[in-house]
Amino acid sequence: MKTNDHLEPTVFVIFGGAGDLTWRKLVPALFDLSQDRSLPAEFAVLAVDRVALSDQKLRQRLRDGVNQFSRFGQVRDAAWNQFAQHLSYQQGDFKKPRTYAALGAQCAKLEKVWGAKAHRIFYMATPPSMFGEIPKYLGQAGLARDRPWARIVVEKPIGYDLASALALNAVLAANFEEAQIFRIDHYLGKETVQNILAFRFANPLFEPIWNRRYIDYVTITVAEEVGVEHRGGYYDHAGALRDMVQNHLMQLLCLVAMEPMVSFQADEIRNKKVDVLHAARPIDRDAVAQCAVRGQYGAGASSGKKVPGYREEEGVAPDSQTETFVALKLFLDNWRWQDVPFYLRTGKRLPRQVSEISIQFRAVPHRSFPVGASLGWHPSRLVLSIQPVEGIVLGFQAKYPGPKMQLRPVNMRFSYHESFDAPSPDAYETLLWDVMKNDATLFMRADQVEAAWRWLTPVLEVWAEAPPSDFPNYAAGTWGPEEAQGLLACGHSWPSPTELVDQPKKKGKNS
Ligand code: BG6
Repeated sequence: MKTNDHLEPTVFVIFGGAGDLTWRKLVPALFDLSQDRSLPAEFAVLAVDRVALSDQKLRQRLRDGVNQFSRFGQVRDAAWNQFAQHLSYQQGDFKKPRTYAALGAQCAKLEKVWGAKAHRIFYMATPPSMFGEIPKYLGQAGLARDRPWARIVVEKPIGYDLASALALNAVLAANFEEAQIFRIDHYLGKETVQNILAFRFANPLFEPIWNRRYIDYVTITVAEEVGVEHRGGYYDHAGALRDMVQNHLMQLLCLVAMEPMVSFQADEIRNKKVDVLHAARPIDRDAVAQCAVRGQYGAGASSGKKVPGYREEEGVAPDSQTETFVALKLFLDNWRWQDVPFYLRTGKRLPRQVSEISIQFRAVPHRSFPVGASLGWHPSRLVLSIQPVEGIVLGFQAKYPGPKMQLRPVNMRFSYHESFDAPSPDAYETLLWDVMKNDATLFMRADQVEAAWRWLTPVLEVWAEAPPSDFPNYAAGTWGPEEAQGLLACGHSWPSPTELVDQPKKKGKNS
């Protein structure tokens, strides 16, 4: 295990330490950090949960998760044993003060052994019903008080609607200062998502045309090929609007549309992002049908195999009205973006997994080429591809070789894979590292979360009041309901993602 003397002693407490998130994401990410970027020399992970579990059983279980999900593959004994000695288990009820007293004692004991004060990170990897409880108990036990040293990490969903998000933020704020609260949106930890800022603000080329004068419209697609998998119970109470749009898609929107930041300070970037949400034109309740489309998948095919409809999935009500697809149209009322439509769509059981942002530039003001030369003319398009292919593609017109002037669309590509001899860390690796360094840049602030809920409230309300009559309205393995086309203005289209996804990987030392 690599250790880093510049990092101060840290105790990483995971509530829900015997749960799926710890096994699948958190401990594999911590293990990868231990092999790569390094952890503090004085470091302990304290997994807290209700079930009875020995340290040894916990470590066995977590090793299995690391074997499956670490980017280093199967873990070798020596590496695991070194890492595992930092993991221990504490059984406890999250709603009993004695759990927190025991935690405090354990942290104090570790500090005594290390001879130094330690940072205490409290990670809530629990069901959302606990998010409003744990901070209170931490506060009562005096574990939140030590301002610069204590931090709390909250997973999404941050609330179920605006009222519950406000209530949760109020509980957090009663016990922790905003600077101590790290609200996770794992999309912000993805390399390609962070690269949006680098691309826009580290290059002078695009920023001058990144506005209503040159950009016709923007689409943001986060498509999943998978269905609800084993999460039907949770998902049936959430739906795509709460599960994906309120957080991941709104965050992508902010990064694409924000004004340049003055510095790389966490609050400076978060101020610029929240400005975007404040600029989002409020949706009139009467206009919800013109701005938002919902869908639910029925039986169909995925990767050539028959798959059941959403209502047949485990944990889902047979008459469920929950949406598994959302498409939205929105406008930002500010100088940069006035009247430029932003189209957002996300869904499960779509034909393929693809997340990408497409910037469609306007056509040239005058076509001076002969009519025949420009058949099939496409205005330039820039695609920021987030996953599964990580890269950027700029589509533009070029002259086709030959004696005649004929134009054809071509692509210029940047691929992470081809350009950099370094693997992309998992988003959780980046985010956990930032929590340890106390850097909140990639985390959601309370006002951002609330602004996103506020903007979506009319859609949530209108949809709740008028349940859909046509569900399921798209077959698994298709691009969602037909109505999603109807959101688009004349001449606009949802881009086909094939060009990036089908790009063969380059052979060579980086492949
Ligand atoms: C999660 C949602 O936040 O993001 C899931 O709860 C979704 O429903 C997942 O599948 C998608 O994340 P990624 O990183 O696989 O695109």
